Amino acid sequence: MKVLAIGDIVGNPGREMVKNFLDKVIKDLEVDLCIANGENSAVGNGITRAIANELFDAGVDVITLGNHVWSKKDVFRLFEEKAKIIRPANYPPGTPGAGYVIAYAKKQKVAVINLSGRVYLENLDCPFRAVDNELKALSKITNIIIVEFHAEATSEKVAMGWYLDGKVSAVYGTHTHIQTADERILPGGTGYITDIGMTGPYNSILGVKKEIIINRFISHLPEKFEIADGPAQFNGIILEIDESTGKTTSINRLIIK
Ligand SMILES: [Fe+2]
Ligand SMILES: [Fe+2]
Repeated sequence: MKVLAIGDIVGNPGREMVKNFLDKVIKDLEVDLCIANGENSAVGNGITRAIANELFDAGVDVITLGNHVWSKKDVFRLFEEKAKIIRPANYPPGTPGAGYVIAYAKKQKVAVINLSGRVYLENLDCPFRAVDNELKALSKITNIIIVEFHAEATSEKVAMGWYLDGKVSAVYGTHTHIQTADERILPGGTGYITDIGMTGPYNSILGVKKEIIINRFISHLPEKFEIADGPAQFNGIILEIDESTGKTTSINRLIIK
């Protein structure tokens, strides 16, 4: 089966790219399942109910989140409604929402797990122990398991890839908004890439107006972030997974701009 994972969708420019290109990508590349990170899809980060529905209508099957999970309070209602939208699994026990979801592709169960790194991010529970915990139950349900690791440090992400090699179908990173060129299949058959990039404004700094970020670096004065306008890009990966073994047979980056 073919799985498309879309990198952090930023604001209206990112959502427009999804609306304009997702249908074509799904048809042309014969995508069976689409996962998208929506943590920056609303203005001021987070996700609203309307935006989640807009993404689902555009062809997204599963929405993942990250450190901006709580930025819009609609997320609590989305979690209550058991929409296919997940937050990192390593939030403390009792946190609203779930850290994984079971989706269906080609009539097969696909488990999607969302995790957050802890280096230069919130000090959540250990993502390695958290994923082990989720895998105990999920590996009895399906051998097709995809892990999105929302993390900043490349070392933490590579470590997670190797830690899970042979235990899951794929591990890919999000959060940095910069696509890395290290896609590979690890020896145990796990597809891996450190970051799948961002779907949002192209002439920007991680999606934000470049002047604002440059000023912040130079002046050290606080300034409100604004989503950049102008042309946008679509970033993601296409994984091909052997349904009988759960192993990845190919991983390719996708860049549309
Ligand atoms: Fe992000
Ligand atoms: Fe993030």
